Amino acid sequence: MSKLTPVLSANWDEADSFTITGYKRNGGYTAIAKALEMPADEVIQLIKDSGLRGRGGAGFPTGNKWGFIPQGDNKEHYFVVNADESEPGTCKDTPLMMANPHVLIEGIIIGSYAIRANYAFIYIRGEVAHVVRRVQQAIEDAYAAGLLGKNILGKGFDLELVLHVGAGAYICGEETALLDSLEGFRGQPRLRPPFPAIAGLYAKPTVVNNVESVASVPAIINNGVTWFTAMGTEKSKGFTLYSLSGHVNNPGQFEAPLGITLRQLLDIAGGVRNGHKLKFWTPGGSSTPIFTDAHLDVPLDYEGVAAAGSMLGTKALQIFDETTCIVRAVLRWTEFYKHESCGKCTPCREGTWWLVQVLKDLEAGKGSEADLDKLLDLCDNIMGRSFCALADGAASPIISSLKYFRQEYLDHLAAGQCPFDPMAATLFSPIGAK
Ligand SMILES: Cc1cc2nc3c(=O)[nH]c(=O)nc-3n(C[C@H](O)[C@H](O)[C@H](O)COP(=O)(O)O)c2cc1C
Ligand code: SF4
Repeated sequence: MSKLTPVLSANWDEADSFTITGYKRNGGYTAIAKALEMPADEVIQLIKDSGLRGRGGAGFPTGNKWGFIPQGDNKEHYFVVNADESEPGTCKDTPLMMANPHVLIEGIIIGSYAIRANYAFIYIRGEVAHVVRRVQQAIEDAYAAGLLGKNILGKGFDLELVLHVGAGAYICGEETALLDSLEGFRGQPRLRPPFPAIAGLYAKPTVVNNVESVASVPAIINNGVTWFTAMGTEKSKGFTLYSLSGHVNNPGQFEAPLGITLRQLLDIAGGVRNGHKLKFWTPGGSSTPIFTDAHLDVPLDYEGVAAAGSMLGTKALQIFDETTCIVRAVLRWTEFYKHESCGKCTPCREGTWWLVQVLKDLEAGKGSEADLDKLLDLCDNIMGRSFCALADGAASPIISSLKYFRQEYLDHLAAGQCPFDPMAATLFSPIGAK
């Protein structure tokens, strides 16, 4: 029996799943009718009771976040959707918005109603022009159908929804940098407190939620708390999108209950590519400490992954087989973090630059064993000592790779070059040629 639980992805194979007609045919836009009949506080309570946790990486309870918005404060409130999706390996929000942008819009209407916001924004990364066009069309169709704008469904609720296209910066996925960027400033993280719930967009109470978190709301409203909590584990409820990429026979999105294991997901995805075996993988994108084949049975929920020493993050499972050089993979990720460091704080701005220099030498077989300690020392000065979590993410693959593959770093030094077959890596490694 399949362990998959397609809800968000249930109709992605239908040719018109992305249209308002297709969405309505599959029961779309019925949850707002229910939600707008409920008092706003009841909607928040229902989402709290469901145990839905943010799918953007941190796993913060969505209903609690909505509940933090002060009520009766006579201020404008804002509902902001984080569609920046730039973490290496993370590729769930983009297909979701391509295949079904209306479920996101329906979730936005419900969330905005719950927190009493009359303005909502989708902040989307600029590179995905095809997704921008699709979501913009969906917004226009929703306006034309009376689902956005004034007096939605005649229930007296008004909502304006704006799609904002970013310029393509990983840091603009960090929620406070996103808000600065949305306001027209350079996207750099803000000092907290105050948190966005108190002073967010234009210094007004603001909710920032990930695409998948928001898109999960209509199904919860329609099917109820018991249905949702029947899936998942004790503290990680419901279904979620796991993204398998890299050296796997059938990569893609696999929607399953939280707590499924990589072994089970690999079974469904046809296994590691034929003739090869698993070497290492990321449980939640490149900023989460890597795992090895010893972690195949770790439950992929927030608690299970944390107990095994990593983070569930965005559930981006990047699979690497034995042809991949760990040092080269880590170098490639670190180059990304160095490039994307916003430069606001010294440990990250300077530290990621030095990490790349040391890793480049090690990958080329230059340096000495003391450089491995230097890497760890640099990471120690970055992790927890930087302004935002980008820097922690940069250190994670390095620390974890040294924990599991220290010998492979030493093998580079012993060989005076990368001991991996460059042709194998060129042909098969998802990080590409040297
Ligand atoms: C460097 C960095 C990049 C991030 N990128 C994203 C992103 O692209 N999408 C996202 O939803 N959250 C991203 N986050 C997490 C957000 O700050 C925030 O926690 C999230 O949008 C909250 O939504 P959720 O509660 O629905 O998960 C990022 C965080 C950091 C530190
Ligand atoms: S940790 Fe890096 S990305 Fe975050 S504020 Fe500092 S320099 Fe910018």
